[in-house]
Amino acid sequence: MLAIAGRHVPTPMARRELFLALLWLAALALATGPADATRKMVGAYELRKGDFSVRLTNWGARVMSVVLPDCKGNLADVVLGRDTIAEYVNDTEYFGPITGRIAQRVARGRFVLDGKVYQMYRNAGRNTIHGGDRGFSRSIWTVKEYVGGGESPYITFYYRSFDGEQGLPGNVDAYVTYRMSGPYTLGVHMNATALDKATPVNLLLHVYWNLRGEGSGRDVLGHTLRLHASRHAVLDDELLPSSGRIEPVAGTPLDFRTPTPIGSRICQVVVMGGRAVGYDANYIIDGGGEGMLLPVAQVRDPASGRALELWANQPTMQLYTGNSLNHTAGKRGKVYDRYAGFCLETMGYVDAVNHPEFPSQTLRPGQVYKHDMVYKFSF
Ligand SMILES: *[C@@H]1O[C@H](CO)[C@@H](O)[C@H](O)[C@H]1NC(C)=O
Ligand SMILES: *[C@@H]1O[C@H](CO)[C@@H](O)[C@H](O)[C@H]1NC(C)=O
Ligand SMILES: *[C@@H]1O[C@H](CO)[C@@H](O)[C@H](O)[C@H]1NC(C)=O
Repeated sequence: MLAIAGRHVPTPMARRELFLALLWLAALALATGPADATRKMVGAYELRKGDFSVRLTNWGARVMSVVLPDCKGNLADVVLGRDTIAEYVNDTEYFGPITGRIAQRVARGRFVLDGKVYQMYRNAGRNTIHGGDRGFSRSIWTVKEYVGGGESPYITFYYRSFDGEQGLPGNVDAYVTYRMSGPYTLGVHMNATALDKATPVNLLLHVYWNLRGEGSGRDVLGHTLRLHASRHAVLDDELLPSSGRIEPVAGTPLDFRTPTPIGSRICQVVVMGGRAVGYDANYIIDGGGEGMLLPVAQVRDPASGRALELWANQPTMQLYTGNSLNHTAGKRGKVYDRYAGFCLETMGYVDAVNHPEFPSQTLRPGQVYKHDMVYKFSF
């Protein structure tokens, strides 16, 4: 299961266990501290509006489940993950978290900013992925506000990313709000402020969806996908945009400009120098990156009739089809295999910090990064 470099970065067992122990000790210590500190305990939180519910945890500002009906009223959890928060500590697949401070890959984990070289912790072979070994997805966030029910249930998580974290410069304040803003609508609003030094910031939400239901035992190859993307950033065998080339999707298996089953051409998509088959592609969203909320993707499972529509204000989106899931432990004793879910990861340009030809993701002190996503579900 850990054969493929990149997403799968095993932490040595001893370290993992020590880390787990420390996590719970921290939670315990805070639990017995001042009232406000208890909000930093690791816990699960539910947002609910009728038969639509979302479960989250401040461990990585993570989505643990999204429960939706189908047209017959059958409820299903459409998000891959684990049952308990503790089990997520072992997660090497990024089930549901916010990743950062720099999501996706940074070549050699290295970049130059204002003439200074920064070397990040490398956790994907010789590269860095999702902010390093202990990025935003493996940090305890503070619950700032929480309203579980009513008209517009929401939760806001806060994280202070510190100067030197995983090799990155400066302190950063990050917030993520999940809000049920309408019927079967989930908004995700991220912001981050560079407090004292210039730093790159690029966050994404790494949820694996399966609209049939995560426990259905069915893969997502029959889901139809439509993407509002005519171009993609060409990725190399290490999934880096090393050439800087942006090319049309027309005439390639990456073309989802009209609704197409995810599986119809998936066997033609060989990535990582032949070590995986499936989508792990970075799309340039048509008209994206100007700060406006634009349609990004529509996905529908013909069997259940459940569909999602994603809107976002970001310039790119990584489409990932769970290529490296391989008997990976899931919820209620179930296992997930290849293509058990898909991820729609809106974000800035991958490895922008090493590509001056891409729009910059660097914040100067006082500048604010904003990333908005809206999921609209139907059935
Ligand atoms: C994490 O993984 C290790 C090794 O597989 C296992 O012994 C441990 O119980 C796991 N922890 C949790 C909380 O699942
Ligand atoms: C970031 O989001 C939080 C939570 O919604 C909000 O309180 C804060 O004002 C936002 N910061 C900026 C700079 O927009
Ligand atoms: C899945 O894991 C099994 C056992 O670890 C291994 O033999 C197999 O090659 C893996 N499959 C893929 C597609 O990586």
